[in-house]
Amino acid sequence: MIHKLEPLPYAYDALEPYIDEQTMRIHHTKHHQTYIDKLNAALEGQKALQDMKPEKLLKNLNTIPETIRTAVRNHGGGHVNHSFFWPLLKKDVKLEGKIKDAINTKFGGFDSFKKAFSSTAALLFGSGWTWLVLDKNDLQITTTPNQDSPLIQGQTPLLGLDVWEHAYSLKYQNRRPEYIEAFFNVINWNKVDEHFRTAS
Ligand SMILES: [Fe+2]
Repeated sequence: MIHKLEPLPYAYDALEPYIDEQTMRIHHTKHHQTYIDKLNAALEGQKALQDMKPEKLLKNLNTIPETIRTAVRNHGGGHVNHSFFWPLLKKDVKLEGKIKDAINTKFGGFDSFKKAFSSTAALLFGSGWTWLVLDKNDLQITTTPNQDSPLIQGQTPLLGLDVWEHAYSLKYQNRRPEYIEAFFNVINWNKVDEHFRTAS
């Protein structure tokens, strides 16, 4: 199986003004596409690995031949993380459902959760991701460096925020906290709830 870039589930300008059209277009058609191209290149000639879902490759990294393990970790991670990220973005979705109750119980309310998630994302050094994950049935805010996926650690991602500069610098330059604040206007909580229900 050759991995392919799926279209976004919305128009490139659907998240304006919070995430701008040009950023979405470049992020999807250039950055995400490059991770896919490099993953395909790493898996060339490896029929069994090509036929595995990329999530499964990440969950079983230690079984991947050492010569391509880092490439699969980085580019497979980039592919999986971005494929997970796009459907998490939608304007005007209210936090409700089972995930709302779980966030309230764990973090003492949405505002506390938002504060903790935002400061974790703002403080992440360099390029990486900030996540809300389920770890052994416990909700946790975590970060991963580079394109590492929480799947590598056996965690289930529920919500992820790309804090690589390529995700925000066209519009926000170096103002990552403004991008994080904007992100909270485009979280598709229905999708987060769906991930939570599937995993718990
Ligand atoms: Fe990205």
